[in-house]
Amino acid sequence: MKFLVLLLCALGVANVSGADLERGKILYSQICFNCHGPKLEGGQGPSLIDTYWQHGSSPEAILKVIDKGVPGSPMIAYESVLPESDRIALRDFILSGQEGLRETVRSIYPREYFKGRQFTPELFDSVESESQTSLPENHYYMERNAEGVMRGTSKLYLKEAGKYRFSIRPIGRTSIFLDGKEVLYSDQKTDKKTHVNEAFELEPGIYGLQIFHEEKKTHSYRFHCVLEKEGGKPRFLLNGRSLQGNIPKIIKARPGEALIVRKWIQDLPPRALLCLLPNQVIVAYNPGDGSVLGAWHSAEINQTPSLPDRSAKPSEIKGTPISNTGSAAALTGITRFLRYQIQGDTVHLVSLVDGEEKTVAISPEGAQSFNLTVK
Ligand code: HEC
Repeated sequence: MKFLVLLLCALGVANVSGADLERGKILYSQICFNCHGPKLEGGQGPSLIDTYWQHGSSPEAILKVIDKGVPGSPMIAYESVLPESDRIALRDFILSGQEGLRETVRSIYPREYFKGRQFTPELFDSVESESQTSLPENHYYMERNAEGVMRGTSKLYLKEAGKYRFSIRPIGRTSIFLDGKEVLYSDQKTDKKTHVNEAFELEPGIYGLQIFHEEKKTHSYRFHCVLEKEGGKPRFLLNGRSLQGNIPKIIKARPGEALIVRKWIQDLPPRALLCLLPNQVIVAYNPGDGSVLGAWHSAEINQTPSLPDRSAKPSEIKGTPISNTGSAAALTGITRFLRYQIQGDTVHLVSLVDGEEKTVAISPEGAQSFNLTVK
């Protein structure tokens, strides 16, 4: 707890005491955890500890969402529900859970200005940028055929003390400054001996990070950078793909109409077909052998967006497992899966069995079950 307080003091969040964080934690577990998960990991509402922040990751932006809510979403405004001190305690509790880059801003500068000059924060301060974008993904990326020199600024939240080092792919030239000190410098065109790549001790806290990077105008932006703690974890990838509108999404069937999705779900084979029935029952079907792999009621799929760190994480089925899924193997002697079809609330899965077409039909039954027939 002492360290959390330190962290928040470093942020300039005034007078955060252990008691306030404790208050935030209690409120969170009473009001927010149902939607944002017991460990802030997300559920019906988005994760509050991953790198993607749709409404901004700054203390001000987080407080604003808590105060005003997100109109048209289940996230209501808490302004009229909780006193200000409680809303601030909640924000500070959320901030205390952060790790990695936050408040990431990418600015693009005209290339000519930097020719033959060393990258320093001062040099960038001395010229106007052509564009400035706040990146909700909290990592760096550029559009295709991007033109110009990039300056990236973010806050680095660290929870673990240790010796860290930036590791980059040496393309073009790159300088990285941590709290105003250059810790990495690399230029493809110069002698490697002039390069800098320092390992440095860091305590838990919040640091100011600046990345300056230039590479040839190419089809793809290939800047690649990882911040690594010596001896393994944690490891922070500083670049990634843009999500561009790919926001955290919950998948459900539409009323009256079944839906089939293929998603990577933990503990299910990748070929599993997920049949989402309109009564919120999900049946995982294995087209390989015609078996039902599992079924859940009151269920939905929590699909995380394809951020590098998120896409490394499988989607999840949230719901209550249905213990008796009927026949474990609906079809025997299956030779080939042919196709699926949706007809209203029913899913038809067609396979070739001993040279003959067989159809498994899965449809909703009651509020918490499904019916499976083979024809
Ligand atoms: C009924 C479910 C629900 C509850 C309860 C709830 N939230 Fe949310 N929250 C959401 C949803 C859904 C969103 C996403 C809204 C959107 O962007 O469409 C969200 C968004 C947010 C965000 C913005 C996240 C981002 O990516 O920018 C914050 C911060 C947040 N909630 C904090 C809280 C706090 C603090 C509480 C408790 C006081 C709380 N929420 C309670 C559903 C909920």
